[in-house]
Amino acid sequence: MYNLILPKRYVVGFDTTQLPELFTEVLVIGSGVAGLSAALEASRERGVLIVSKNKLGENNTMHAQGGVAVVLSPEDSFQSHIKDTLEAGQGLCDRKVVEKVVRDGPSKIEGLLELGASFDRVDSASGELAFTKEGGHSHRRVIHGRGDSTGMVVEEALLKAVEDNVRISTMDHCFAIDLLVVEGACRGALLWHKQRGRFIVWAGETILATGGCGQLYRETTNSAVATGDGMAMAYRAGAVLQDMEFVQFHPTTLYIAGAARVLITEAMRGEGAILRNKWGERFMPKYHPMAELAPRDVVSKSILQEMQDDEHTHVYLDVTHLPKEYLESRFPNICSICASFHIDITKELIPVRPSAHYMIGGAKVDNKARTGIPHLYACGETACTGLHGANRLGSNSLLEGLVYGYKAGEEVSLSLNRRHRRVTSYPLKIDAGAGRLRGMNLEDIRDSLKSLMWRCAGVERDEEHLKEAEDALSQWREYVMDKEFHTAEGWELQNMLLVSSLIVMAAQQRKESRGVHYRKDYAQRDDQNWKRHITFRGQGLGA
Ligand code: FUM
Repeated sequence: MYNLILPKRYVVGFDTTQLPELFTEVLVIGSGVAGLSAALEASRERGVLIVSKNKLGENNTMHAQGGVAVVLSPEDSFQSHIKDTLEAGQGLCDRKVVEKVVRDGPSKIEGLLELGASFDRVDSASGELAFTKEGGHSHRRVIHGRGDSTGMVVEEALLKAVEDNVRISTMDHCFAIDLLVVEGACRGALLWHKQRGRFIVWAGETILATGGCGQLYRETTNSAVATGDGMAMAYRAGAVLQDMEFVQFHPTTLYIAGAARVLITEAMRGEGAILRNKWGERFMPKYHPMAELAPRDVVSKSILQEMQDDEHTHVYLDVTHLPKEYLESRFPNICSICASFHIDITKELIPVRPSAHYMIGGAKVDNKARTGIPHLYACGETACTGLHGANRLGSNSLLEGLVYGYKAGEEVSLSLNRRHRRVTSYPLKIDAGAGRLRGMNLEDIRDSLKSLMWRCAGVERDEEHLKEAEDALSQWREYVMDKEFHTAEGWELQNMLLVSSLIVMAAQQRKESRGVHYRKDYAQRDDQNWKRHITFRGQGLGA
């Protein structure tokens, strides 16, 4: 068993804290689709404070391209979406959760439309929503906005509603250092702001919606904020984390030296894009009957195989056979990003390779978004609801964020109604005797960690590489975890180390291949031994 050496940032019951304090009925940490949906729902009855690590709206939601999977087309059915989701999840989805999310989808999209989200239409005359297809979906059921900027369309509508809402306050550039757990329940969080320094928010109910952890990997589509903070905080608070080995890699990320690893949406393949190797040959049909629209894990592994066979750093996505006007209107964002690197996608191939995209695991929650720690909820990518099982169907996550965000918001209101108690403070001693920082290059450790995770706990895993990751992480934990930091970079690094360690631990334990978790040394799915979840109960540092 690993020694995770968790940093201790406060001790309960000593002193008055001497830090500035704020009080709120509901604290939402994170400002993506799940956090904003939760805040809006909770605000029907309660005062809400949203804190965001970066500027409000900088998160993975904002960067989502493909769309939202939802049953709204007359040819589609709930049964079909449920079946596709269960099949993708390879035996580990929670059927009840799948049914709920799929069936709640249409009303949540109606809600977004009422807030002004403008999803693309087939034409202005009919006003019918335009649907696209992604891998693993047996119908065209993915709605999109401004072509390939769906996340932005969703986020902007929610942000506008939040801005107009007098019951919601927001604070940006606030880093959540840790949750405050007193008498076994979550009472708010210890936060930090560059100008204000550290302060405490005491909350009746706290909702974690900090997004995923793609930044643990050298290659990722994720926003810079996705460092696993919510998962790490939940673990330190004593919550259960589930399915941490299931990190989804997206097959097609732009691969140009100097360019950010921008997602090249799967919807492009849904509209006919072809994957080609170094020699210009189409290769997906030889790996899977669904070719370019095979499940993501299959496409990612096939791309890696071609890269290895050809000793080449990437493969190519070809859309040159699609009409120029169509490409420019359907994928304006991708056209413009590629153009800025002198690639005209209407005439040239797009260099792509896989990268870390989505964390399936996270803080285990029940059907009310409750973590098991009283007054602590989680939703969005931070949470593990059981929807995705071992492999997430593309575009199911914005839907999950909407449904579970709403759920969390509803539940916190109900919980506050039951309590009839004012939010109060508790005595705490902050700075619990951590070691001093000397001569540590945080950026160097962070870069090394990202390279290690990419190399040893990426698309392909085996015992030898996972052991290498375990050893390096263990060494870094020894001198990073017991230190007291004074800036976000240090706390973030501690979170990254903790979440990476949990991913590696889970990946070592799961001695089979299933969904997004591929072990070269255990290449088969093993239902007899492994049709089950791996969970870790957090060590619960609060008192
Ligand atoms: O390819 C994409 O646009 C990704 C969609 C998703 O991950 O849901």
